[in-house]
Amino acid sequence: MDKFVINGGKQLNGRIKISGAKNSALPILTATILADGDYSLGNIPNLMDVRTMLKLLGVLDIKYNFSENSVHLKNLGNNELYTAPYELVKTMRASVLVLGPLLARRGFAKVSLPGGCAIGERPVDQHMKALAQMGAKIDIEHGYIVAEAARLKGCEVYFDMVTVTGTENIMMAATLAEGETVLYNAAQEPEVVDLAKFLKKMGAKITGEGTNVITIKGVSELRPADYIVMPDRIEAGTVLCAVAATGGDVVLEDAPVDCMKATIDKIIETGCKVDIVNSSTLRIVSNGKLRSADVVTQPYPGFATDMQAQFMAIMTRSQGISVITENIFENRFMHVSELKRMGADIRLKDRSAVIRGVEKLSGADIMASDLRASAGLVIAGLIAEGTTNIHRIYHLDRGYENFDIKLNNLGADIRREKDE
Ligand code: EPZ
Repeated sequence: MDKFVINGGKQLNGRIKISGAKNSALPILTATILADGDYSLGNIPNLMDVRTMLKLLGVLDIKYNFSENSVHLKNLGNNELYTAPYELVKTMRASVLVLGPLLARRGFAKVSLPGGCAIGERPVDQHMKALAQMGAKIDIEHGYIVAEAARLKGCEVYFDMVTVTGTENIMMAATLAEGETVLYNAAQEPEVVDLAKFLKKMGAKITGEGTNVITIKGVSELRPADYIVMPDRIEAGTVLCAVAATGGDVVLEDAPVDCMKATIDKIIETGCKVDIVNSSTLRIVSNGKLRSADVVTQPYPGFATDMQAQFMAIMTRSQGISVITENIFENRFMHVSELKRMGADIRLKDRSAVIRGVEKLSGADIMASDLRASAGLVIAGLIAEGTTNIHRIYHLDRGYENFDIKLNNLGADIRREKDE
């Protein structure tokens, strides 16, 4: 296992290119199950989760070649294969995204239940409920979702809560269903829109993506397509938080500016200057002294839960008191105890954290627990006095491509070392 050794106190200056979005690449990769043939997908980030998803597609006889952020896939149409094994699913919950496409295209699916993770129980009841409504026979056997459907039937689906992968799974399943499916209380995340665009290139008939009502008219067959995945709004938001806290002047290239409004407004509220240069370029200038600001995480277009830990990290040294409320996941404050080891003043009450800004954070040995918590801890290390060792940094590698290299190119001092 690796750790990061960070010497804090450096400003960040220069230019950084944002990678492709993990949470768009993952569902788009599973959509290749829906049609036999050849695909070329670009701007695919070289991340552990992407490599895991490709391994899973390989098990389903979809051959792939991944290099230089491009993936060429060949779906050989072996409809006898439909099992997503525990060994792969346990390392990446997003594997559940093969459930809808397998059921729609191959008529069967045997997908290991993903199990919980550090941030919460992460159930998939909404996915199963909707597929059952579409006529699938679904059971849980020995830790696996076992599903069967000769042909899914379109229907009206009401999600009990906004679920991103739930919306994506059912949207994919509905593309080959008989008749029309309408998803109410659908997720509006940009990654859902990106997936819909790819599916439409494959011949799917989808309207309403990006709103909370998505309509899919089933077709008998889809065709393979090529696509360039959108940039990662969470990586871009993480960089904005880092520069806001360290101070500096950084230009973000290939950023999905139009879907970052909530984050940009919040960073401006802390006193930073953020210029929108054009639809894919942002510039942030900060003196590192931040006003406090409150955050309530919401489904898109609200402030993203995936930005919560990073924003909390920068509030630890703000001038004032910040209240951060986490509405999406029940246990997404794992970073709090680690930040307190560095001298942060944070109190938890139910779903809220009250952060009183302190003069300084001091470097310490801390432990990453999940993907975005580890991003928050990296930011804390960048602004702490002295050296911070972040252990179990593999959590970060799941969702950030060469993040240490990118930050060092801006002036950070991060060393990746083997952890004893
Ligand atoms: C997606 O997870 C993202 N992952 C998460 O990003 C992100 O935090 C989350 O959406 C919220 O934006 C991918 O897109 C691969 P949900 P997902 O279903 O779809 C509850 C990251 O850091 N729920 O929108 O799993 C659930 O427990 C990851 O990149 C049910 O109760 O999240 C949660 O409280 C972390 N039953 C809420 O809904 C269900 O069937 C939202 O979850 C489904 C969800």
